[in-house]
Amino acid sequence: MCGIVGYIGSKNSAEVIYNGLEKLEYRGYDSAGIAVISDNIIQTRRSVGKLKNLKSNLDLNPISGNIGIGHTRWATHGKPSEENAHPHTDCSGKIVVVHNGIIENYVSIKKQLISEGHKFKSETDTEVVAHLIEKYYKNDILKAVKSALKEVRGAYALAVICADEPDKVIVARYDAPLVIAKGKNENFIASDVSALLNYARDVIFLENGDICEIKKDTINIFNQDVEVKRETQKILWDAIQAEKCGYKHFMLKEIYEQAQTIQDTFRGRLSSEKNVITLDDINITEEFLKEISRIYIIACGTSYHAGLTAKFLFESLASIPTEVDIASEFRYRDYVIDSKSLVIFISQSGETADTLAALRIAKQKGSKTLAICNVVGSSISREADNILYTHCGPEIGVASTKAFTGQLTVLYLLALDFATKLNTISKEKLDLLVKELWDLPVKVTECLKQSGRIEKIAKEFHLKNQFIYLARNINYPIALEGALKLKEISYIYAEGYAAGEMKHGPIALIDETMPVMVIATKSKVYEKVLSNIEEAKARGAKIIAVINANDKEISKKADYQIVVPEVDEFFSPLINVIPLQFFAYYVATMRGCDVDQPRNLAKSVTVE
Ligand code: G6P
Repeated sequence: MCGIVGYIGSKNSAEVIYNGLEKLEYRGYDSAGIAVISDNIIQTRRSVGKLKNLKSNLDLNPISGNIGIGHTRWATHGKPSEENAHPHTDCSGKIVVVHNGIIENYVSIKKQLISEGHKFKSETDTEVVAHLIEKYYKNDILKAVKSALKEVRGAYALAVICADEPDKVIVARYDAPLVIAKGKNENFIASDVSALLNYARDVIFLENGDICEIKKDTINIFNQDVEVKRETQKILWDAIQAEKCGYKHFMLKEIYEQAQTIQDTFRGRLSSEKNVITLDDINITEEFLKEISRIYIIACGTSYHAGLTAKFLFESLASIPTEVDIASEFRYRDYVIDSKSLVIFISQSGETADTLAALRIAKQKGSKTLAICNVVGSSISREADNILYTHCGPEIGVASTKAFTGQLTVLYLLALDFATKLNTISKEKLDLLVKELWDLPVKVTECLKQSGRIEKIAKEFHLKNQFIYLARNINYPIALEGALKLKEISYIYAEGYAAGEMKHGPIALIDETMPVMVIATKSKVYEKVLSNIEEAKARGAKIIAVINANDKEISKKADYQIVVPEVDEFFSPLINVIPLQFFAYYVATMRGCDVDQPRNLAKSVTVE
């Protein structure tokens, strides 16, 4: 995920910024850059790849100045390249900008600015901000930033410097974090406090809508044109804690990030005004969909479970027959695909060897391919005909959490887009589902508040050696995913099963020693799940049930309840998976397991 560092004071800003950017390396990035002002001239250095490339560039062409901004870029709009690396400048080269987030309406702003004569040098959404500020600049950079941001929609953490006003950095925040650290006659900014801990520990976390003028000895914060005060906090974390934002493990941090990453993933693709889904990045037309024979979804591990969930979406919403296959199986199967098939590849890393090989096979067969990846520029994202990115930022915990809910988010958008194009969904249903999509981050936040309750339940069960996870219909893949999470990080043998299939085998395993986790939220199979719970209970199993708030029946039958907010059944997998992620996490930590790097597993499996 992108990182921002800025400095104003009397030190060499390029050095301070470079050191800060190094501390953000763990977040992942594909290019980096620094701009400083010296003698009223802006000097910029940018390099693709690792920070050491920027270092060599700086060693060969040194820059220095007491004010500057820097950035590590995780590409979203435009490939990783020097032109797309930040900082970005306006036409005059006097205003430079670094940005984290996504400017949703950058296409229309860019069109307008081009028609007014602005010349663009990159493919990024960020560059429009530099030109928009230039448009409003009349010897007051703070005023120009304020005016520009009135036109911008989306998420941003921004830092701006201007050659003609070398005594200030302007920063702004909306839905992307930004922190200011206060020194003595110097101030620092960063997207993440870990970049600044070596320099200062008194920090101000900006709030949404804040625009701030930072000089070396003053900080003035405005919100909606009114000057506001923000509390200063002392940060006591060590460097490792800071990377994890104070969480004990990356996995826990990533579970908590999900409300934000889901929103970041649908941002810019879902318009609030007209309930329109815009997937500009792909070329899958109405004509193609009308002739489509079948969708195939190919993936591994957790991504495969996202695919299994999507089968229900494509079939129910868009009436397209859908098959889901594990990549390593698909490779050696006599499949029937042709130019009327759409083959979707889901991969967080975009590098999984089996998925990549399957993609190459599908392309050889002449079918249309679409990849859903989290890592920009990865092999799968480059080789597929169409690519939709999840905007989750780097996932560091080996067990996938936020990437999974990001993948589901993209798949919801895709299924609704196909259903709209094929006219298989009524306007009322579409409006309802789009509204629920918008509400998902709030519902996820509610779900995250259950962590304390789940931790208590985990305490009761963490010494068990086996587990069964049951669910039906669209939540069946979530039973698989819940069991996989527990296996991966706690090394407990766990099996996910379609609840209706239990009587054909797994029921033989059930006695008083077998805990059973059941997904039992409101759905068309609620009554059926209730019967399956009765069957397990009759054989002595201890039942943990994931239920909705005003549940009448299952709450009475289950030994332990985890309450999650009610959503339309289509979105229930995305909500129901969160307690299962927490449960696996707490059980694993109580067993003393290495949650972020479980034994024998790799984050990216690049061998067959
Ligand atoms: C590995 C990881 C899993 C992941 C799977 C597929 O097994 O440990 O978390 O789900 O690979 O990875 P991908 O990057 O293709 O989604």
